Amino acid sequence: MNLKDCYNFDDFRRLAKKKLPAPIFHYIDGGADDEVTLNRNTEAFNDCDLVPGILNSVGEPDLSTTVFGTKINMPLFLSPTAMQSLYHPDGDKASARAAEKYGTIYSMSTMASFSIEEVSSISSGPKIFQLYIHKDQSITDDLIDRCKATNFNGMCITVDTIVAGNRERDHRTGFTTPPKFNLESLLSFAMRPKWVFNYFTHKKFELANLKDKTEKGTNIAKSVMEYINEQYDPAMNWKDAEYCIKKWNGPMALKGVMSVDDAKRAIDIGCTAIMISNHGGRQLDGSRSPFDQVKAIKDAVDDKLEIILDGGVRRGTHVLKALAAGATACSFGKAFLFSLGAGGQQGVEKLLKNMQEEIRRDMILMGCKNISELDSSKLIYRK
Ligand code: LAC
Repeated sequence: MNLKDCYNFDDFRRLAKKKLPAPIFHYIDGGADDEVTLNRNTEAFNDCDLVPGILNSVGEPDLSTTVFGTKINMPLFLSPTAMQSLYHPDGDKASARAAEKYGTIYSMSTMASFSIEEVSSISSGPKIFQLYIHKDQSITDDLIDRCKATNFNGMCITVDTIVAGNRERDHRTGFTTPPKFNLESLLSFAMRPKWVFNYFTHKKFELANLKDKTEKGTNIAKSVMEYINEQYDPAMNWKDAEYCIKKWNGPMALKGVMSVDDAKRAIDIGCTAIMISNHGGRQLDGSRSPFDQVKAIKDAVDDKLEIILDGGVRRGTHVLKALAAGATACSFGKAFLFSLGAGGQQGVEKLLKNMQEEIRRDMILMGCKNISELDSSKLIYRK
């Protein structure tokens, strides 16, 4: 099996599983507790159906939309995800280049393995930065200043990770940042010798944006759950978010908004967008799915916020359903991490090409010339 055989999420996932050591594959693939929310995020799209229109002179549909003040070529972009060099040595550089090629957004995680400056120097495509509010405020301030200096298009503050979710797969595999090669994990790494060779022959693993502030996660191995619990501020509040929004003074989203009330409050503190997200099912298991909340939030906020659906997206039709329910755009994490693991930049390009083709084809089949024609009249819920 190789990249050209990858038509869908499961194909990329299977290829990535062949290439990645088990602790790394399961870190991407897993969710919290019983993974009910992880699974529901995708299943939720099946509770409603698209209703196509006909004879609408569609021709070539326009797939573009605007988020974070940036016009993108399709209504789907890469979610911020941590430690990408574990999935391919080129890590964030590969993702950013692939996103640029397809005219969409690459999002950098606070926990990226290449720095704000490194990625800015290799890609002039649209970029947003995902901010974790740290207990040490100088870290948060420094990240915002550096994104300003490198002209990131926007930022999002993750608000659903003030304590780490219970990721039992990571407990079992002993996954840490940086990876620890001990007796327990040795076999899973030894079974992927090419990955081990790449790991030791490329840039040393680091949390590139944070390494000057803390050794943890870079020189001191920590499980991601330990890292989150030690570094991120569990007491963060609306004032802290407002402080970051004012300091950034540009397009800003809260990532992890799930309720109508919180979406309204995001407008009050100056957000331009929200990412409806439950962190890919990695935090609160039993949480509602992002798709299930889009319509109610759209009804409440109308055009005062850009609504980004983050979670469970695997197909073009998922994107179309999210837009019909009221989203401005969607983002996805797991799907593109598997494509990165499966084939680096080429893998991510192949996935984005597949998704662009699916969205285009689905738009034509729906009889929609542009995404504003995908409104709630095009979606019927079964119950
Ligand atoms: C995670 C954090 C790091 O989900 O975003 O693992």
